[in-house]
Amino acid sequence: MSRPVQTIGICGAGQMGAAAAVSFRRAGYPVLLWERDSERHAVIRRTLADLDAWLDRHVGTPKGSPGSIEVMDEPGAIDRRAEVIMDAIVEVMEQKIEMFRRLATARSRGAVFLSTTSGLSITELGSGSGIGRQLIGTHFWNPPHLMPLVEVVRGAESDPEIFDRVCALVESIGKIPVRVEKDVPGFIGNRLLHAMWREAIHLVERGIASPEDIDLVARLTFSLRMPAVGPLENMDLVGLGLIENIHQYLPADLCNEPGPRPLLSQMTRDGTTFHDWRDRDMAKLIERRDRQIVHQLEFLKELDAT
Ligand SMILES: NC(=O)c1ccc[n+]([C@@H]2O[C@H](COP(=O)([O-])OP(=O)(O)OC[C@H]3O[C@@H](n4cnc5c(N)ncnc54)[C@H](O)[C@@H]3O)[C@@H](O)[C@H]2O)c1
Repeated sequence: MSRPVQTIGICGAGQMGAAAAVSFRRAGYPVLLWERDSERHAVIRRTLADLDAWLDRHVGTPKGSPGSIEVMDEPGAIDRRAEVIMDAIVEVMEQKIEMFRRLATARSRGAVFLSTTSGLSITELGSGSGIGRQLIGTHFWNPPHLMPLVEVVRGAESDPEIFDRVCALVESIGKIPVRVEKDVPGFIGNRLLHAMWREAIHLVERGIASPEDIDLVARLTFSLRMPAVGPLENMDLVGLGLIENIHQYLPADLCNEPGPRPLLSQMTRDGTTFHDWRDRDMAKLIERRDRQIVHQLEFLKELDAT
């Protein structure tokens, strides 16, 4: 699976599916992209072209032979032809199971199945759809065309040889595969991220600081170190004795309640947000985020430190 010879099928051409398709195409793979909502096909083609143009401008044009992307409104060609099939549909277990069950021909051909789920159990998804041996989690991060790393998740029934092949596939599109050897909710990244997000909401709930200031502290303190220094490296640098002292009192005051914070549920019901977006531009923020990622990746490439 190390060279772009096989066909990749992607189910769902939303945010993740479209950008993953671009990543595979730019690495030379032929991609079959299924979007059931045919009214969205024109928009999807425009999104694919925009993503490509953005990457050409900010990252450079790919060197190898170009792949291709065929957008389709039925999964039949994927079922018949794709050797690797990726789920990028809605984050609902029953719908993912139903989608995989439709791909009976691919299952009997021995195709490899991937899921971009953010945290649903790969084991449950595999056993529910009868493809446990052939299914591997590939948790791409958003924006998937830029983020350099994919968490590759082994379900309880996943074939170890297929797990290795999927890690090689991820490498072949220029991304770093991280092997998640046990299927736990949220894998690695979302466990870390949501621990922080829960605490950020809790700080707002307690009136400790404004959302603006909480975001500033996160952006302009520990986040500045993070691309170069991971949390466990950072603890080694600080000294574990100090961390142990802090953990005598701090964790007891952190939020550890299960379930969504009441403020989050309230805001979801009311349709409100942490920031007032009437005088702020989300598209500009996304552009700033993406250019920052490219800048950071260039820096890490210079250091060869990724
Ligand atoms: N958006 C993120 O930041 C992010 C990050 C990592 C992982 N993911 C995961 O990737 C997957 C896709 O997320 P997204 O943000 O791209 O979603 P999205 O809503 O942008 O796109 C989902 C696409 O799948 C199609 N679809 C939905 N239900 C379907 C069904 N039952 N059968 C066939 N097609 C269906 C929709 O038409 C849509 O085009 C989810 O599992 C999500 O958890 C998302």
